[in-house]
Amino acid sequence: MDTRPLGTTGPQVSALGLGCMGMSALYGDADRAESVATVHAALDAGVTLLDTGDFYAMGHNEMLVGEALRTAPAALREQALLSVKFGALRDPAGNWIGYDGRPAAVRNFAAYSLQRLGVDHIDVYRIARVDPGVPIEETVGAIADLVQQGYVRHIGLSEVGADTVRRAAATAPIADLQIEYSLVSRGIEDRILPATRELGIGITAYGVLSRGLISGHFGRDRQLAAHDFRAHSPRFQGDNLQRNLDLVDALRKVAEQKGVTVAQIAIAWVLSRGEDIVPLIGARTRERLGEALGALEISLDEADLAAIEEAVPAGAAAGDRYPQAQMAHLDSER
Ligand SMILES: NC(=O)c1ccc[n+]([C@@H]2O[C@H](COP(=O)([O-])OP(=O)(O)OC[C@H]3O[C@@H](n4cnc5c(N)ncnc54)[C@H](OP(=O)(O)O)[C@@H]3O)[C@@H](O)[C@H]2O)c1
Repeated sequence: MDTRPLGTTGPQVSALGLGCMGMSALYGDADRAESVATVHAALDAGVTLLDTGDFYAMGHNEMLVGEALRTAPAALREQALLSVKFGALRDPAGNWIGYDGRPAAVRNFAAYSLQRLGVDHIDVYRIARVDPGVPIEETVGAIADLVQQGYVRHIGLSEVGADTVRRAAATAPIADLQIEYSLVSRGIEDRILPATRELGIGITAYGVLSRGLISGHFGRDRQLAAHDFRAHSPRFQGDNLQRNLDLVDALRKVAEQKGVTVAQIAIAWVLSRGEDIVPLIGARTRERLGEALGALEISLDEADLAAIEEAVPAGAAAGDRYPQAQMAHLDSER
């Protein structure tokens, strides 16, 4: 598997990372045994970067990743690099009730995560959203202390804007910024990507398939469970959904001409944006994983890129990428 650097100070990681969120939360039910098998298959294929968060079903996802590591052959377990998000507060019903980036909270979150994952250090640790009540310098400083103590190897950021990237980087070395980036979410291109490139900070891109919307597998009449994020996402509602799936139909024609799938061309497009970008793939079955890994074999020339751009022009997606209340928490959207 090709590798890419996670910024100038971070580790070298597989060109595609595996995002494990959907194995526990937010996209409807998942099969635990198949999820663990998918993590094993990813490691076996050379994937080294696994992404999770302590609030993905309140520890469930970390315990699942921990189980997958425990039951993997030692060589595969040792190649795994864990990226962990913390800081999101939720109530027992799953409602989002704020963010906590206080230094004492950072130490507390990390202690629980290490235990649930069954490891002695986390490779990249990041707050999921900026806590508006705590300067980013204090949150990043607390992670830097954990680095000093050996509990964390590298500091990451998540969904922050260019100004916050600069403030964080002035506090401690930052390996990567995790942020949504896809054919239909290109918001980082204007200010954020130039800032991370100037500062030598990598990007781990999530939502590369826009949460399945541009995967080619999302049907026009698909029913979503009430606890599925997409049941509340503007992009998946009514006319927005139909317009967005029209874009997918146009992209499918380009994919078919190249003999690849829609998901593969969408992932290949993000891979083509730069060596500093590592797409996180949200596969939770071995079948989807296999499809996603196929994107690594695709090279896109100028004509391909022009055809993709014509099918899905920048800014063409209908609807915001998060519901209004969650958009308000995105430092990256300010
Ligand atoms: N920092 C942040 O704020 C943040 C936010 C969200 C996610 N993340 C991280 O990023 C990771 C990836 O995000 P995401 O899950 O939204 O990504 P995504 O890849 O855009 O979406 C995953 C969805 O796409 C569907 N899909 C269809 N074909 C696929 C294929 N070949 N490969 C993979 N998925 C396919 C999956 O469907 P099925 O229903 O068939 O499984 C799943 O529902 C997450 O797991 C999480 O670790 C970070």
